[in-house]
Amino acid sequence: MRALAGADPGSRWESRLIRSAHPVVARVVDAAVSGRAVVRVPGVGVLVADPAVARTVLTDPDRFAKNGPGSSGALWTPVLGERVLLNMEGHEHHALRRSLSDLFSSRVVREVCDAAAGPLVQAAAASLRRGEDVDVVRLAREVSSAAIGVVVGLDRDTPPAVLLRASDAIESMVSWRTRSFDDAAVARARSALAVVQDAAESAHAARASDTVMGRLARQGVSLDDARSLAAALFLTGTGTVSCALPRIAGQLADAGLLTPGGPSSCDVDDVVAEGLRMTTPSLATLRRCVRATELGGVRMGADERVVVLLWWATRRDGGFEPGRPATGDLRHLWFGAGSHFCLGAPLALAELRAMTSMLLDVAGEEGLVVSSRRAARRVLVPRYAELTVRTQGVGEPGERHGHGTGDGRPLHPASRSA
Ligand code: HEM
Repeated sequence: MRALAGADPGSRWESRLIRSAHPVVARVVDAAVSGRAVVRVPGVGVLVADPAVARTVLTDPDRFAKNGPGSSGALWTPVLGERVLLNMEGHEHHALRRSLSDLFSSRVVREVCDAAAGPLVQAAAASLRRGEDVDVVRLAREVSSAAIGVVVGLDRDTPPAVLLRASDAIESMVSWRTRSFDDAAVARARSALAVVQDAAESAHAARASDTVMGRLARQGVSLDDARSLAAALFLTGTGTVSCALPRIAGQLADAGLLTPGGPSSCDVDDVVAEGLRMTTPSLATLRRCVRATELGGVRMGADERVVVLLWWATRRDGGFEPGRPATGDLRHLWFGAGSHFCLGAPLALAELRAMTSMLLDVAGEEGLVVSSRRAARRVLVPRYAELTVRTQGVGEPGERHGHGTGDGRPLHPASRSA
């Protein structure tokens, strides 16, 4: 029904990334949902791989909550505090979301993106035009952390490595099995987040109208809320975007769309939307069943766990096809649905648009090939450890004018694949 492996090369690479990140879980989940899209797996919870049922769960907080005992939100409360959106429900959540409605207005998104992505994207384009290899993983990591750096008010001179180290440190603390943090883990997470929260505190105190945290202060958002929010934005906004871009680049290469002339027929917004559907970087999200209920034919008891398998729910026949609209239950499902719908979606889209446009522009002029790629092993968010591209005319004689790596084989003899 919803098998992990698809027939096309882009789907096969996506499956490989999922299996490499979660070798055991991916097999268990794939087997469980291959017969029924809503199924109970003892010890794990009720798995949902159907887009309509996924949407039902995400848009019904009275039956399926993100807070409370054993929820994913509760995991973060000791680290981030009580008020970080992702551990809230009901009136308080709604009120905080409303107070943040301008956080990522189109003006703010443009300013953040210009400041953060602009120089890095231009430098990458120049490298490609000089015939050099560009690691898209590195580019996306730097852009996404620079963007969050601007949002939280980090000093512009702070090297990207500082935030990247903090992001990696936190991610390494969480796996599918993590239900709570012990005191030592809470202390480690807080110390990793200090760089972000201290920056947010200074920006909040300065109350400048040209910083995100300054504007929040002027709107009356408290210092505690601003500190917590900065950490939440950092946690949610770096790994997702940095994993998405290389996976979208991989899809473009596998579909043969990084050749001169190929990309011109694609609208960049369509490419990003279809790329996000295909890659769905937030693999799954959790809810707690609030009271006994029925879901997709499965009876559930109070406090049972629902695992909404977003990546599985967004599969469909035919693989990556920019321009094919994802409507109905699929619409934007990669950003969730309902009251917890991704707060940072406008910023994520702008960052991805900036980087994808650059790749499509260079590919339109000279063609791009994937010169090497490698799946990351045993990571929380499935991703490439490396995915380098270069212009088509560059490389050893036998590789000239090659056509990406549609079958997953690297073009460069020295490159490794998972
Ligand atoms: C491609 C990139 C991204 C993807 C795929 C993504 C996906 C998601 C999903 C699926 C949810 C809902 C989770 C649930 O319902 O349990 C979510 C929530 C959230 N996202 Fe994103 N996200 C991305 C980028 C970002 C960025 C860049 C930021 C911030 C700068 C951000 C901030 C948030 C926040 C704060 C929430 C929690 C909202 C709430 O609970 O009310 N995300 N995201």
